[in-house]
Amino acid sequence: MSSGVESQQVLARAREVVSSCTGFRDTAISPTAVDRVVRAELARGRSAMELLAELQRPGAPLARALLDAVLVGETYFFRHPEQFRFLANEAVPAALGRGNLTLRGWSAGCASGEEAYSIAACLQNMVPPGVRVEVLGTDLHEGRLELARRGVYGNWSRREAGPLLHPLYLEVAEGRVSILDSVRAVVRFAQGNLLEPLAEVHGSFDVIFCRNVLTYFSPDAVQVALGHLARALVPGGFLLLGTVEVDHPPAGLVRVGAPELQAFRRPLPRELTPPPTPKPVIREPEPFRASLRVTAPPPPPAPTAVGLHTEALQRIESGDETGAASLLEKLLQQFRDYLPGMLELALLRERAGAREAAFALMHTVRDNAARLPPDLIIEGPEPLPARFYRASADAFLTLGAIE
Ligand SMILES: C[S@@+](CC[C@H](N)C(=O)[O-])C[C@H]1O[C@@H](n2cnc3c(N)ncnc32)[C@H](O)[C@@H]1O
Repeated sequence: MSSGVESQQVLARAREVVSSCTGFRDTAISPTAVDRVVRAELARGRSAMELLAELQRPGAPLARALLDAVLVGETYFFRHPEQFRFLANEAVPAALGRGNLTLRGWSAGCASGEEAYSIAACLQNMVPPGVRVEVLGTDLHEGRLELARRGVYGNWSRREAGPLLHPLYLEVAEGRVSILDSVRAVVRFAQGNLLEPLAEVHGSFDVIFCRNVLTYFSPDAVQVALGHLARALVPGGFLLLGTVEVDHPPAGLVRVGAPELQAFRRPLPRELTPPPTPKPVIREPEPFRASLRVTAPPPPPAPTAVGLHTEALQRIESGDETGAASLLEKLLQQFRDYLPGMLELALLRERAGAREAAFALMHTVRDNAARLPPDLIIEGPEPLPARFYRASADAFLTLGAIE
């Protein structure tokens, strides 16, 4: 029989194990949940010493039972709908503007999967034909991931607070819905702990939702998790957090939109490079002249391909795609082999519905890029190797042809 003191030791150790595995601060760990698990083990005749010994092994069944008991899995479709509107209206156009042919989302701390499927439905509904969508959902709780993979939900997953913003499921029985096959097909689930970096095989993401997870974490654990999340974003990608989870932008990210939106963006490399500081011009003292000649001002510097391209990008960002396209046309008359501009214009043509023109340009991008050494860095708003242009054009032409 275990003494009261020993039981208290087990409870205290159990809380430590939960906190180190999850990142939870002590006050966020439900005492009744921990108590229930420990008492059930003691009631089965196990001694406090046995339990303490088992708690030395964080992957052991007792630790798993504790995690399952304390992890809160509350979630529903299109939770915080304003963040899904932001995804549709800001994040998707931004990713397409970067020329993405695949949009990748991550629901970090996805619980039973409603958030991951909502992200996938939103992306699928917003991207033009030919652009692929991939969504990853990760969570620490294996049991919830099983529910997520099943993709069948009851009324509790459909709440008034989360309006059905994009097609997502079919009614299969009274009060039961099943996720549409087209949405399921682009979502994968994997176990993952936010205290560790995401496995490299999962790649990087245009958008990450990590909501109502960090709210349970200790301040140190929040910083660790935010570091992993920020590093998994592509430049220009967005991180969306829960309503009160941080009060200032995570390191390396900038806030976008109103504070209550809790949306953060990873800047593009060109936004991080400070403009070159002009070198001070040291003039020789002018010899005395009886009469001063009036000289014409120096001609403005000739525009560069990268400069014009950057101007076109600014126009795209301000919504003036037509202006951007005509600027890119002028650019290409002057710099005929400038691959980044060709790719940009092809994507603009595709978005404007001028498919043939887009294809013709993409063929030129592919053929020109194929003639260059794959690792040759092409100067553009973002310096990228020739193989990037070849792969992008190939993907565009192949997907477009299948479609
Ligand atoms: C309240 S749910 C949030 C679900 C969804 N993100 C939403 O906002 O609707 C929190 C989820 O975070 C998971 N979680 C907690 N700590 C975690 C950690 N360290 N790593 C990964 N997932 C964790 C829990 O298992 C739980 O499923």
